[in-house]
Amino acid sequence: MSNHNVSDIKNTINTINNNSSEAKNQSMVYKSCDLIEHGFVVDNQNCIRVCSIINNEYLGQPLLFSNYTGEILDKETFFTAKRKYREMTRNGSYPYECTNCPRLLEKAWDNDDYIDNILLSHWIDCNSRCIYCSAPTDETLKKINKYYNFTPAIKEMIDNGSIIRSAKIDFAGGEPTVYPEFESLLSLFLKEGFHNIFINTSGIKYSKSIRTALRNNQINTLTISLDAGSKEMHKKVKQVNSYDKVWENIYRYSEAQQEAKTKEKICLKYILLPNINTKKEEIDLFLEKVANAKIDYVALSLDMFWWTKHKDDDNKSLINISNYFIEETQKYKFKKYIYPWARWLLGIKEIVV
Ligand SMILES: C[S@@+](CC[C@H](N)C(=O)[O-])C[C@H]1O[C@@H](n2cnc3c(N)ncnc32)[C@H](O)[C@@H]1O
Ligand code: SF4
Ligand code: SF4
Repeated sequence: MSNHNVSDIKNTINTINNNSSEAKNQSMVYKSCDLIEHGFVVDNQNCIRVCSIINNEYLGQPLLFSNYTGEILDKETFFTAKRKYREMTRNGSYPYECTNCPRLLEKAWDNDDYIDNILLSHWIDCNSRCIYCSAPTDETLKKINKYYNFTPAIKEMIDNGSIIRSAKIDFAGGEPTVYPEFESLLSLFLKEGFHNIFINTSGIKYSKSIRTALRNNQINTLTISLDAGSKEMHKKVKQVNSYDKVWENIYRYSEAQQEAKTKEKICLKYILLPNINTKKEEIDLFLEKVANAKIDYVALSLDMFWWTKHKDDDNKSLINISNYFIEETQKYKFKKYIYPWARWLLGIKEIVV
């Protein structure tokens, strides 16, 4: 994997500038992906990468900057790092990390320097201990990786015009809401008029800025993983006693959605954990509680680790319970989002059903 720090990148500025200046602003048909072209991720290993995607069939996560701890990156330095991969795809020589990635798409790509997709995932701490969690929230990682505030760097990028206002801004982690900079970072995006904001949260900690974002219709989707109908199951899955608090917060967010007269901005997620939360009664209770809170959007997922181990097994009973979930949501007329692992289990292509 290529590995560059900020000074390496600065040294290559002139070469790449010269190579790319002629093609500037011209669109060209070739195979690339939206993230290579206009996206980036700040991850929990002190890196800025092109994407956070990882799979058995390809490596993923091309690197832009390593040893990153919140330094302000001037526009030229940042886009020089981005252009390196864009030039490669333009020339038909793909980053090794992207080999076989299904996100590569042949179409006309523009040659302008701007960002329209950001994943903020540099946080490790969490106020929950979900038994299925894929995020490295443990003590070892906290010792290896240095926590930093990203707000000053992103403010500079907004001020220097690097990020378009319709950009997808995706907050994940760890748990975003527990970080001291969360409120100021989200407020900054709101103040600057960003309106395509995605937030994944445990829902345990109430956020005034999330409420404001919902009230101002600047949230695309606020996703809260419930993974349970009953208090007992919620505690079993989350390993913290937070069920009442989460539902109290859902009601407050739902109120903001109603005040804004918007729909389908809050999505309550159910990750199927085979032999744990897959009883009909648990799903019934979950859907009933969703409806009572005047929420109209649910998501069905499946523990990705379980899927990796069991994808070739006879999963008939799990398929049945997944179909039951989907059929029951139809009764309530909820919008439904189906995550990839559940789609693969069911053999369906539709993301929203
Ligand atoms: C790592 S979390 C971080 C954000 C936040 N703490 C949360 O739980 O929503 C990002 C997303 O990955 C999902 N996730 C984590 N572990 C998973 C697993 N084993 N299978 C499927 N989804 C998982 C979570 O539900 C969450 O929506
Ligand atoms: S691994 Fe896939 S998603 Fe990631 S940058 Fe490469 S092509 Fe894009
Ligand atoms: S709330 Fe999110 S980050 Fe925290 S343990 Fe659960 S899935 Fe992991």
